[in-house]
Amino acid sequence: MAREAAACLVVLLTVHRLLHLSGVAAIDRGLFPPGFLFGTSTSAYQVEGGYLEGNKGLSNWDVFTHKQGTIVDGSNGDTADDHYHHYMEDIELMHSLGVNSYRFSISWARILPREQGRFGDVNPDGVAFYSSLIDNLLQKGIQPFVTLCHYDIPHELDKRYGGWLSPEIQKDFGYFAEICFKMFGDRVKFWATFNQPNLFIKFSYMVGWYSPGRCSEPFGNCKSGNSSIEPYIAGHNIILSHANAVSIYRNKYQGKQGGQIGIALCIIWYEPFRNTTADILAVKRALSFSAPWFLDPILLGDYPREMREVLGGRLPKFTSKQKKRLEATKLDFIGLNHYTTCYVKDCIFSQCEIDPINGDARVFSLVERDGVPIGKETGSPFFYDVPRGMEEAVMYYKQRYNNTPTYIPENGYSQASNSSMTAKDFTNDTRRINYISGYLTSLASAIRKGADVRGYFVWSLLDDFEWNSGYTSRFGLYHVDYKTLKRTPKLSADWYRKFLMGSPLRRKFRDESQLHQFTS
Ligand SMILES: *[C@@H]1O[C@H](CO)[C@@H](O)[C@H](O)[C@H]1NC(C)=O
Ligand SMILES: *[C@@H]1O[C@H](CO)[C@@H](O)[C@H](O)[C@H]1NC(C)=O
Ligand SMILES: *[C@@H]1O[C@H](CO)[C@@H](O)[C@H](O)[C@H]1NC(C)=O
Ligand SMILES: *[C@@H]1O[C@H](CO)[C@@H](O)[C@H](O)[C@H]1NC(C)=O
Repeated sequence: MAREAAACLVVLLTVHRLLHLSGVAAIDRGLFPPGFLFGTSTSAYQVEGGYLEGNKGLSNWDVFTHKQGTIVDGSNGDTADDHYHHYMEDIELMHSLGVNSYRFSISWARILPREQGRFGDVNPDGVAFYSSLIDNLLQKGIQPFVTLCHYDIPHELDKRYGGWLSPEIQKDFGYFAEICFKMFGDRVKFWATFNQPNLFIKFSYMVGWYSPGRCSEPFGNCKSGNSSIEPYIAGHNIILSHANAVSIYRNKYQGKQGGQIGIALCIIWYEPFRNTTADILAVKRALSFSAPWFLDPILLGDYPREMREVLGGRLPKFTSKQKKRLEATKLDFIGLNHYTTCYVKDCIFSQCEIDPINGDARVFSLVERDGVPIGKETGSPFFYDVPRGMEEAVMYYKQRYNNTPTYIPENGYSQASNSSMTAKDFTNDTRRINYISGYLTSLASAIRKGADVRGYFVWSLLDDFEWNSGYTSRFGLYHVDYKTLKRTPKLSADWYRKFLMGSPLRRKFRDESQLHQFTS
């Protein structure tokens, strides 16, 4: 009886909030399980700045952005949000939002800056920076969720042996990962080895938009590279680097530190362009070529069948020793970064133009059908607001990987920006609120259907350096004025704070850790 009354009150409160949010779908924190991580997301190169401070070494991105013509607005991450000096202020921003988790990455070149040989000395200043960040987060009740490699690696490794193209990097990555486990693992309970290698590898080695800018015709016009084989060689080394780091964690640290380790992939959702068998098979292929490129070897022991069939000799093979290593290490959680959905059509039975990103799956991707875009536009050309894609994608991966524990380390909305615009052009971001509430509603639906999702992070806490888009794309809940470094909350920051606070009733029960008894 008391239970029914409480449930009824919850419904009433939800309706009440719906009316007050005028047009924005009401989504309630109580729809997510107890202990769910709600956070904000960033990465080292995109926010830190301080690129020569604290004895940091040069990263591949420091070098890449300083070359002419690599970044659309000619910018770089030398200063970015200067989070290196503003991190205490940024922790306060997160605390005011009420998040219980923060996803960030560690700059490898800040921890291992020296050029004197492969296993260089640990930089105490770099360790001190992340240690202080972690301690201050924990003091505010914010769990660190740490990515070991979010695109930036020491430039030294690119120079020495071609970075991800060489198997030598597997040992170097293990060495770096072990330093992080040793230095921070007493306090960090969530580790992701990599951030969306299925995307950055293509941008780095297939089309040449990301460091080190390698590709070949017809995929792009680079000085050097080989688009048809290098992405798969780099991917192979990343999978084995992941296995090496996980193995070190499992054998030496996980027992006493008690954390979890996983990997984050980018998951675009695909829908058939036409309702034909060929396009439905094209969707299957596009999916197999995306996150399963990495997750199938890690969890199921080999590359997806569609990849092996289409790519043949272009795809490296795992030796039986490597397969044993993969089988023995696997992962504890998968991270699914999700932003958008597109249509794909078949290119085996029909002729297509070249699709530089998805074309290897013998598909062509589109964002419109009969002149109608797949969803509402965002500030990024290929990103559309298609909330149903979240549930569809999460359910697909739930099924493919036997409901492995899952986090959403990134989801967010971008606003197009240029240097003549000011904070007030960005702070009324009702479209971002609509986007986030729509995707959270869709995620809640997947959870209701049994998906074991344990956390969600908005990309991003702050407007930041968006790789080859420079500062032309703003994803932040907080606007950043890059001249003064002033942070200004957008309406979406207020919306997220209110969402996280929940209704007064929920707040009371949450504090007493009894909420789930009334909602289950
Ligand atoms: C890429 O490598 C493959 C296999 O070694 C070779 O057949 C092809 O010609 C190379 N392409 C370029 C553009 O170098
Ligand atoms: C696709 O076609 C099948 C049979 O031709 C039909 O049953 C189904 O409703 C169609 N689906 C859509 C989304 O149009
Ligand atoms: C910046 O964007 C605004 C709004 O889209 C536009 O009106 C203006 O012309 C742009 N300015 C520059 C310098 O591109
Ligand atoms: C924000 O923009 C919407 C229209 O998109 C408008 O209705 C609303 O009044 C604006 N709010 C503020 C605080 O400016």
